[in-house]
Amino acid sequence: MNDAEYQKVTVTVKKHLNLDLDFYKPNQMMRRLAGFIGRVGADNVNEFCSLIETDADVREKVMNFMTINVTEFFRDTRHFDMLRSTVLPEILKKNPRPKIWSAGSSRGAEAYSVAMMIEDIAPGTKAQIVGTDLDVNIIAQANAGGPYPDAEAKNISASLRDRFMEKKADGHYVNSEIRSKVKFKEQNLLTDRFEGGFDLIMCRNVVIYFSDEAKHGLNKKFSAALKPDGILFIGGTETILNPRDFGFDRDAAAFYRKSTAPAQITRAA
Ligand SMILES: C[S@@+](CC[C@H](N)C(=O)[O-])C[C@H]1O[C@@H](n2cnc3c(N)ncnc32)[C@H](O)[C@@H]1O
Repeated sequence: MNDAEYQKVTVTVKKHLNLDLDFYKPNQMMRRLAGFIGRVGADNVNEFCSLIETDADVREKVMNFMTINVTEFFRDTRHFDMLRSTVLPEILKKNPRPKIWSAGSSRGAEAYSVAMMIEDIAPGTKAQIVGTDLDVNIIAQANAGGPYPDAEAKNISASLRDRFMEKKADGHYVNSEIRSKVKFKEQNLLTDRFEGGFDLIMCRNVVIYFSDEAKHGLNKKFSAALKPDGILFIGGTETILNPRDFGFDRDAAAFYRKSTAPAQITRAA
């Protein structure tokens, strides 16, 4: 795919999916798109763009492909162990009604994992847990609390599974108790305003294809949305290179704490 073709895809996707590819790394996106176009039955970029304009199924496939909805419960188990043993107890000690956000929540497995964990370590806690995603179809699936295939539910311990999950013919479901603890809503992390006052923000496996500028802007918004001492929990393969630029201190792998000292800006936004 050449630059002009990529530009055409960018304009079409913006118009018909309301997704702004300017926030994504162009080289990676071009490479991924080149492999994807044939999968919706198009032979070239012009055909691909026509299908986006005319075929709702193709639009849904493109949206899923661009945003990648892969998720699972307790993804990166050792980081969830840390969340359970250290991060959440400290948060709960400071705030018995913690405000928690799963940003880019996909089908909700991450937000529900935290809801189960809190109910397990501090039963009856009235945490305010919200999950947000750009993809409305995925929000509907998150609200339904399932079905999750075996592969996505494999890290749920036997005791949590017994208490909080139900197995049906088509997969695993979160029970109504845990479902009632999480609210999901549509939000675009790149363009929408954020609420504030969070004790914990999880943004994991979402920004992989974002440009450096988009990541930089997002980290600034996350920092502003956290309380002082609040925690940003990122994906197991991700890292924030200059956390002090955003007023963060690295607490442990994948966990960044909003510092109570002012941010040291070392490079331009
Ligand atoms: C790979 S999933 C990660 C799900 C979960 N955080 C996890 O780690 O299991 C990435 C999710 O981010 C969402 N996403 C991508 N770009 C987004 C944006 N600009 N705003 C909000 N959500 C976005 C996608 O729709 C997708 O559901």
